[in-house]
Amino acid sequence: MCGIIGVTGNGPVVPRLIDSLKRLEYRGYDSAGVAAVVDGAVERRRAQGKIRNLEAVLAEAPLKATVGIGHTRWATHGAPTTANAHPHKAGRVTLVHNGIIENFAELKAELAAEGHVFESQTDTEVIAHLLDAELNTGRSPLEAFKITLDRLTGAYALAVLIDGEDDLILGARRGSPLVVGWGEDEMYLGSDALAVGPFTQKISYLEEGDYVAVTRTGAQMFDVAGKPVERAVVQVSASSAMVEKGEYRHFMEKEIHEQPDSVQHTLSEYLDLVTGKAKTNAIDFAAVERIQIVACGTAFYAGQIGRYAFERLAGLPCDVEIASEFRYRSPAVSPKTLAVAVSQSGETADTLASLTWCKAQGLKTAAVVNVHSSSMAREAEVLWPTHAGPEIGVASTKAFTAQVAALLALAVAAGVARGRIDAAQEAELVKALFESPRLIAEALRMDASIRSVVQDLAKADDILFLGRGAMFPLAMEGALKLKEISYIHAEGYAAGELKHGPIALIDEETPTIALAPLDDVFEKTASNLQEVAARGGPVIMIAPENAPDPHGAGIRRIHAPDCHPLIAPLVYAVPMQLLAYYTAVQKGTDVDQPRNLAKSVTVE
Ligand code: F6R
Repeated sequence: MCGIIGVTGNGPVVPRLIDSLKRLEYRGYDSAGVAAVVDGAVERRRAQGKIRNLEAVLAEAPLKATVGIGHTRWATHGAPTTANAHPHKAGRVTLVHNGIIENFAELKAELAAEGHVFESQTDTEVIAHLLDAELNTGRSPLEAFKITLDRLTGAYALAVLIDGEDDLILGARRGSPLVVGWGEDEMYLGSDALAVGPFTQKISYLEEGDYVAVTRTGAQMFDVAGKPVERAVVQVSASSAMVEKGEYRHFMEKEIHEQPDSVQHTLSEYLDLVTGKAKTNAIDFAAVERIQIVACGTAFYAGQIGRYAFERLAGLPCDVEIASEFRYRSPAVSPKTLAVAVSQSGETADTLASLTWCKAQGLKTAAVVNVHSSSMAREAEVLWPTHAGPEIGVASTKAFTAQVAALLALAVAAGVARGRIDAAQEAELVKALFESPRLIAEALRMDASIRSVVQDLAKADDILFLGRGAMFPLAMEGALKLKEISYIHAEGYAAGELKHGPIALIDEETPTIALAPLDDVFEKTASNLQEVAARGGPVIMIAPENAPDPHGAGIRRIHAPDCHPLIAPLVYAVPMQLLAYYTAVQKGTDVDQPRNLAKSVTVE
C-alpha cells in the first residue's frame, strides 16, 4: 500500500509534495521519491527509508518546479533500495504506482526483446517503458496512456509526468483508489483524501477503470471504455481519509472497498512476486509438528481457513479453537506445537490468555495481529503482522481478509520449508495469491447483483449459509456478519452436513446462500442445493459464471469472479460482506456500531 501525490500549480511544488508524503507515511515507508518538471524535462530525487532521507537528498540537490509527483513505497516487488524507489523513468515518462502489475514478467520480456533496458526489479518500471514506447509512435499522451492501461493486468493507481508536457499529470485507477483534488488555479491527484488534504477539501473520487488528465485549470476524466465522464466534486473535512468515511456512507463500506489494497499490503509482507517465492519468516516450519491456532469470532474463522491451507499445502496438522474454550479446558499440547494467536486488535482477553498459557507451556508462539503495538504483538515470540490499517467498523471486514491472506501466504512458506511444494508450485501459488487484489476489486463490482437480492433477505427471520472446504468457515463468517449488523438470525453449515439435521429448517421463507467456487467439490455443493430447492427453499448460489447450472426451481445465481481455489476465501468474502452490509442498510440498523457489540473485547 503505497502513497501517491501529484500537484500542478503555480507555487514551489516540492515542499507541498513533501508535506503530503509525510501524511502518507502510514501507507508505507521503506523508500520515497519525487519527480518534478524542471525547464520542460522531468527530474527525480529518491531515497531509501523515511521521508527525512528524501528531504536530505533534496537539500543537496533541490528541484525548482511547480508541477510534480511524489510517492512513499511499501515494497512489493524487489528490495527496498533507492533503485527500486519510485518515481520510475523510461524515456520521456516518469511515474509512480500503487498496486501490482500481475503480467509484468511477460511485458518485461517482450520489452527487453525490443531493446528496452531496465534499471529496477519493480513491476512498475514496465508501465513507464510501455507508455514511452507508445508515445514514440507519435500518439498523444492520452491515447498512449489508454493503450498502455489496456495492456496491464492487475490492480493499480498511477500518476504520470511526461517530458515536454509542462502542465500535465496523467492518473488512472483500477483496484487501488485515486482522487482528484480541486484547488484555485491548481489541481491535485492523490491516493486518498488525506494526500490532498493539506491543499484542498474539494475532491472527486475516480471510479474503477477511470483515467484522468489533470492540468492547472481542471481535469478531463474518462471511464474504462475511454468515454469522457464527470465525477462529482464533494467537500471533505480537513482531517479526512484515515478516520473519515470519505465517499462512503459507513466505515464498513469503506473498509470493504479498501480490501484490494489491504490484502496486497499484507501479502507483500510474506511473498515476493518478482522472485515468485515466499519470504523467509522467523519460524522454521520444518521443525514444527503441529499448529494450534487460537482466536475469537471472525478471527477464529480466518484461522479455520488457514487450517485448510496448512494441512493441504504443508501437510502440517493444524487445530483451531475458540480461545474462550481453549483457555479453560486444559488442552493437551505436544512440545513441538507452534501456537498462533489470530486477532485484529491484539487485545482480545481470551485470545491473549490462551497465547500466554501456550507460552508458559514452553511452546513457540506467533501472533497474526493488525495492531502491531498490541499486547499479543508484544507477548508472542514472533509477530506476523497484517496490514489492514485502522479498522473502525465494529464488524470486521478488511482485518479478516488480511488475516486470511497472511495465513495462506504462511501456509505456502510452510509447504516450501517442509518440502511439500516445489519451486514451480511455489511460483504458481504466489502468483495466484497476488491475483487476489485484482479479483477482490472485481468482486466489489458484484454490488448491483447483491443489492438485487437484499430486499428478500431483509424480510427473512432465518438465513442459512452453506459451503464446503475453506468455504465452510467462510459461510460461518458470512452468517456472523449478517447476524451482527442486520440482527437476522443466520447459521453457516458445511453443505454436506445439511441433511443431518438443518435441512428440517428449510421452507419457502428461509433463504439459503451457497458459496460455490468452481473447485473439486463444486458438484457436491450443487447437489446439496438441489436438495434445498426440492424442498421449496429459495437458494442464492454465488458461483462463477462458467460454473454449471444446478437443476432446481428457485435457484438464483449471483456471478462471482472465477479464481484459483487457494484465493477463493479472499474473493468470496466480498459478496458475504456486501450481502450483510446491504441487508443491514435496507433494515436501517446502525451498521458501524451494531447494538450490544464492542470493537475490542478485553473482558471475558
Ligand atoms: C466480528 C468481529 C469479532 C472479532 C472478535 C475478535 O465482526 O469483529 O468477532 O473478530 O471479537 O477480535 P480480535 O480480532 O480483535 O481478537
